[in-house]
Amino acid sequence: MATQSITSAPTTNRHLIRWVEKMADLTQPDHIHWCDGSQAEYDFLCNTLEEGGTFTRLNQKLWPGCFLARSDARDVARVEDRTFICSLSKDAAGPTNNWEDPFKMRRKLKQLFKGCMRGRTMYVLPFSMGPIGGPMSRIGVQLTDSEYAVVNMRIMCRIGTPVYREIEKDNQRVVPCLHSVGMPLAPGQKDVTWPCNDEKYIVHFPETREIWSYGSGYGGNALLGKKCFALRIASNIARDEGWMAEHMLLVGLESPGGEKTYVAAAFPSACGKTNFAMMVPPEGFDGWKIRTVGDDIAWIRPDENGHLRAINPETGFFGVAPGTSPKTNPNAMATLRQNTIFTNVAETPEGGVWWEGMTDTPPAECLDWRGEPWTPAIAKETGRTAAHPNGRFTAPASQCPVIDADWEKPEGVPVSAFIFGGRRSTTMPLIYQAFNWSAGVYAGATMGSEMTAAAGGTLGTVRRDPMAMLPFCGYHMGDYFRHWIKMQRTLERTPRIFHVNWFRKDQNGKFLWPGFSENMRILRWIVDRVHGRAQGRETPIGWTPYYEDVVWDGLDFPKAKFDELQQVDRTLWRKEVMSHEELFINLHDRLPPEMIYERELLICRL
Ligand code: GTP
Ligand code: SPV
Ligand code: MN
Repeated sequence: MATQSITSAPTTNRHLIRWVEKMADLTQPDHIHWCDGSQAEYDFLCNTLEEGGTFTRLNQKLWPGCFLARSDARDVARVEDRTFICSLSKDAAGPTNNWEDPFKMRRKLKQLFKGCMRGRTMYVLPFSMGPIGGPMSRIGVQLTDSEYAVVNMRIMCRIGTPVYREIEKDNQRVVPCLHSVGMPLAPGQKDVTWPCNDEKYIVHFPETREIWSYGSGYGGNALLGKKCFALRIASNIARDEGWMAEHMLLVGLESPGGEKTYVAAAFPSACGKTNFAMMVPPEGFDGWKIRTVGDDIAWIRPDENGHLRAINPETGFFGVAPGTSPKTNPNAMATLRQNTIFTNVAETPEGGVWWEGMTDTPPAECLDWRGEPWTPAIAKETGRTAAHPNGRFTAPASQCPVIDADWEKPEGVPVSAFIFGGRRSTTMPLIYQAFNWSAGVYAGATMGSEMTAAAGGTLGTVRRDPMAMLPFCGYHMGDYFRHWIKMQRTLERTPRIFHVNWFRKDQNGKFLWPGFSENMRILRWIVDRVHGRAQGRETPIGWTPYYEDVVWDGLDFPKAKFDELQQVDRTLWRKEVMSHEELFINLHDRLPPEMIYERELLICRL
């Protein structure tokens, strides 16, 4: 494929051309390639990645169109401590974000990026988050020296020629996203299979709506449309314009009678969004259908009637591989059977992939995510897993067997409920409904999740992760709560707010709730509440279902066990509310008064 010079830019947008010129001057790539997003271009880049050793082509009979990538062992996940929100004032970023003076940071970045693309090609990758031209959609342009980033972005969002056409209209401004793996090549120097740099910077300038990412090629660090744009920058735009950019899945539940209800749910990273978004209804739910709209990010805004509508700005799933199996998530397994890029999972001798939890019995031998021989015996001896715990699949959403008919509707789907939930082995019941909007915002704001299950029966440490947005909110968390509170005033119909916990354990450390498909029973109560059909029992923390109000067909689940799951222990809850204070003290000067009053009311009820 011929590389083009700046003169053959497929756009006349002068802002864009000037910016590309400036960045090429700074980073000094050998070539500039303007991506058209075509299949031919994708195939060419996959071949290039294969020739360079980044990609292994999988057995095309078993895994058509699939590749495996192995990353550098020092570049396997998002780097929260290297992620910065460089607003003009430190206060605007708030205490939960890393901040650096934007002028200082710019100087630093200019040094880092100087000549950083030498020996490489700079790809100009225009992308649209949301359907191209849609009323809620936004455009960005990523400049990157990573072919891996380009091919993953082609699955994750809409890219290429149609986006240039959109940018042509009224010389539109786009969000500039500069990305480099930070490893220039000297003339004749041989490349490594996963170029990256030990020095990493994932930087956001909220006022000028810019992203600069240096040193990493992995996931949210490198696919800049995802967490950097669709959450950190978009949360700033959304606050200014009166909408919401959230770390939420979107799912529709269709009854046998054809009633369709959509909900949006925020669970922290690796706490079950992908699973919930495409769950299979359990036994006893004949005729009920789950329809997936999105599994990670939702952009939500009031329509002209004051009802909330949401889009999934993405077109693919960047899902956690370990634990995904035909039993836990058959729809994800069907989605990733073809045209999928796997990263940091194991390779089987027949040219397939494997990860912990994919099958009951592991393969007799394989190559682990680093490419080293792995057997169950080696695993037992060394504790090494075959797949990296953050090994992922990048798969097209259109391949999901239960993708919703309206998942690409430009104006979005109506949202009737919000669900918050973390990983909690105690205290939090399986399900409760907040009394009203501000109590619901309080429940989301004080959401906690256990980092890992602690050994020896001691409890895991709970980290506060407000609305699952702790690593993704691009401004002061106190202002973010205020924005949530204020949203209600723009609504004619407020979604109901619920809190769930699939992870409560009994005294022996076993999960009390079977989860996965069975979560449908809880979703059905939520939908019944939304439509004013189900009873609610008043407790100090909110409305909870009576045992009789949950549909138990096809599951033998005794009332005593349900009561244990639903128990609101006043002593534990008083401790819980005390621990909310820690977060609030941190945010005190920007905390909306509603949060203080909700906390006081809750204490009074306990
Ligand atoms: P990100 O892509 O990082 O944002 O994660 P996610 O929220 O999409 O998480 P995902 O659905 O990939 O789930 C991650 C883990 O949660 C897996 O190990 C699952 O096995 C586990 N999990 C999901 N749902 C349930 C459930 O209902 N019960 C239990 N016990 N575990 C669950
Ligand atoms: C998450 O960590 O919440 C993810 C993966 O969805 S990443 O895209 O790397 O942020
Ligand atoms: Mn996520």
